[in-house]
Amino acid sequence: HERARFAAANDELLTVGLRAGRLQALMYPLVLVVWELTTVALVHLGARRIDAGTLQPGELVAFLGYLLQTAMSVMMCLFLLMHMPRAEAAAERVREVLGTPPSLTVPASPVRRLPGPGRLDLHDVGFRYPGAEEPVLSGVRLTAAPGETTAVIGSTGSGKSTLLGLVPRLLDATEGRVLVDGTDVRDLDPALRAATVGLVPQKPYLFEGTIASNLRYGRPDATDEELWHALEVAQAADFVREREGGLDAPVTQGGTNLSGGQRQRLAIARVLVVRPRVYLFDDSFSALDATTDARLRAALREETAGATVVIVAQRVATVRHADRIVVLDRGRATATGTHEELLRTDPTYREIVHSQLTQEEAA
Ligand SMILES: Nc1ncnc2c1ncn2[C@@H]1O[C@H](COP(=O)(O)OP(=O)(O)O)[C@@H](O)[C@H]1O
Ligand SMILES: [Mg+2]
Repeated sequence: HERARFAAANDELLTVGLRAGRLQALMYPLVLVVWELTTVALVHLGARRIDAGTLQPGELVAFLGYLLQTAMSVMMCLFLLMHMPRAEAAAERVREVLGTPPSLTVPASPVRRLPGPGRLDLHDVGFRYPGAEEPVLSGVRLTAAPGETTAVIGSTGSGKSTLLGLVPRLLDATEGRVLVDGTDVRDLDPALRAATVGLVPQKPYLFEGTIASNLRYGRPDATDEELWHALEVAQAADFVREREGGLDAPVTQGGTNLSGGQRQRLAIARVLVVRPRVYLFDDSFSALDATTDARLRAALREETAGATVVIVAQRVATVRHADRIVVLDRGRATATGTHEELLRTDPTYREIVHSQLTQEEAA
């Protein structure tokens, strides 16, 4: 029903647009012809009067000048009238966006200081998308300690991205609690939350501007040296140096003038500039070749020592050296342990490992 209505509206828009286009295509030349003919007639009449000595040439020129000004004003008014309805419709939509109340609420007296080192605890967390029948996550318990790397592995659609989104409050848990150093993220001051939790999304978004303006997104006062250091760690310094303008090289909207792997590394650098206590990497190494992936993770280990690091991945190679691996299966954390422990005890993990081994062996 919705789709039929959409199609009908689309058809109507097309018909109206075509009719308006045809009218305009007809009107513009018509108006111009009338205008030019009038000018010719006026000059002709004026010339005869000048010949007869009843009109000064200057008077004719002045008259034509006034006429042009008057006609222009009338045309501008018509132009305004024509565009008014369109502007009104557009303004209505802008007003709707600006008037939408934020779904994330901020408490009246938020927590503005976190004394701890950034320990992350998920207490029986559940999440259901609005309108969905089944919850995407349920009863997830997870602890990520500072100085350790915690990996989450699971198949596509198991809820990994949703899980990470709960920490910086892209989404709010519908059940249970997400705690940073024992404080519910919902009680945190938004600025403190942004400085504490750094998420590299699965599909990072770059904004129109320069590489530097994108990197300074989380910390506008970062120096150029800090930006270069972050790029160095993210294995992005080389390609930024090669671009014309370096840090000031232009980035188009959505970063469409960069490759997926370059976008991913810039997004990692953007979070490194903030130096948060909790790092969340959502499949951030998937678009990188194996060598760059290994170099990046070695550099990251040094850079994030002491911080809490959570890595989401589908590749076993990316997670096997993590201090702790959590297996996520259809929204439930079914097993936790090191690579060796899980290989011994968890059939789901063994299945994932074996499927990837055979793939690599086949390749
Ligand atoms: N915005 C959304 N609205 C409704 N359902 C969603 C939305 N985003 C993801 N889902 C559903 O939630 C489940 C988990 O998705 P996601 O967290 O992206 O999984 P993963 O990152 O592990 O691939 C999927 O079944 C997906 O269809
Ligand atoms: Mg995902």
